[in-house]
Amino acid sequence: MKILVLGSSAGGGFPQWNCNCRNCHGVRHGTVRARPRTQSSIAVSSNGDDWVLFNASPDLLAQIRANPCLQPARALRDSGIAGVVLIDAQVDHTTGLFMLREGQPLPVWCTAQVHEDLTTGNPVFNVLSHFCTVVWHPLQVAPPTPFTVPGVAGLRFTPVPLASKAPPYSPHRDDPHPGDNIGVLIEDATSGRKVFYAPGFGAMAPHLEPYLAGSDGVLLDGTFWSDDEMIRLGISTRTAREIGHLPQSGAGGMIELLARYPRPRKILIHINNTNPILDEDSRERAELARHGIEVAADGMLLDFGPAGDLQ
Ligand code: MLT
Ligand code: MN
Ligand code: ZN
Repeated sequence: MKILVLGSSAGGGFPQWNCNCRNCHGVRHGTVRARPRTQSSIAVSSNGDDWVLFNASPDLLAQIRANPCLQPARALRDSGIAGVVLIDAQVDHTTGLFMLREGQPLPVWCTAQVHEDLTTGNPVFNVLSHFCTVVWHPLQVAPPTPFTVPGVAGLRFTPVPLASKAPPYSPHRDDPHPGDNIGVLIEDATSGRKVFYAPGFGAMAPHLEPYLAGSDGVLLDGTFWSDDEMIRLGISTRTAREIGHLPQSGAGGMIELLARYPRPRKILIHINNTNPILDEDSRERAELARHGIEVAADGMLLDFGPAGDLQ
């Protein structure tokens, strides 16, 4: 199973267009050792030719240009992207759907809650219907019901509900339902390898235990280092937890949580531009390394091979 990180940043990207925080200023001016990052998306494949896109980022066209495997030339009009899975209805995960409007029917897997958001508060599907046919495949999370994507042989996906938050424009923003935000267990039928992808992992819950304990790899919410990160910078009045993101540091944070699971390779993804872990020389980054936790970067290819070799 191959997992290609297309975009490892949270909404806004890194550096963010209007931000002069230490990280954004530093990466622009070369005073902080950090890599720019595009917005949140991965692609997954078993054979390296046919890919499932997880989330369609506003940076999708640049991500496709940067990863030629997503653009094979088998026909006049062709793509390596066989289908799109959406984990929520946030701007950073859905705006790129507009960039896939040309021509062929577009198969999309998402929950009923996300579909509702994408036909009301963030009506991407309504707009797209004027350009192409969106073929919606509803995801069932209660109980989690596995699905496959036609054209992508050998991979099986299981959508798992996460305690997080529907987006600000959602009709159910303050009325949480299972399916507002999901994690996905990705399993390779041939190798038996399992990866749990959950960039919107807002809080631990008992039903998530097997996905953390039994996976070979986990790609989890890396948005914020501290719960009050944006409050201290004076750019928000809300904590990380209040907007559905589990911070890394502190009691009950991601570092403490992941220490309970020896098995998986641990990778943080969907990192906000304010997060000190983006600075490769920071003490926070060193603390992650001490706990065996990696930080995703754009272009990272994770190859969970049958022999157990991870690259
Ligand atoms: C989030 O997941 O909270 C988002 O990245 C917010 C956004 O897209 O602005
Ligand atoms: Mn996001
Ligand atoms: Zn910034």
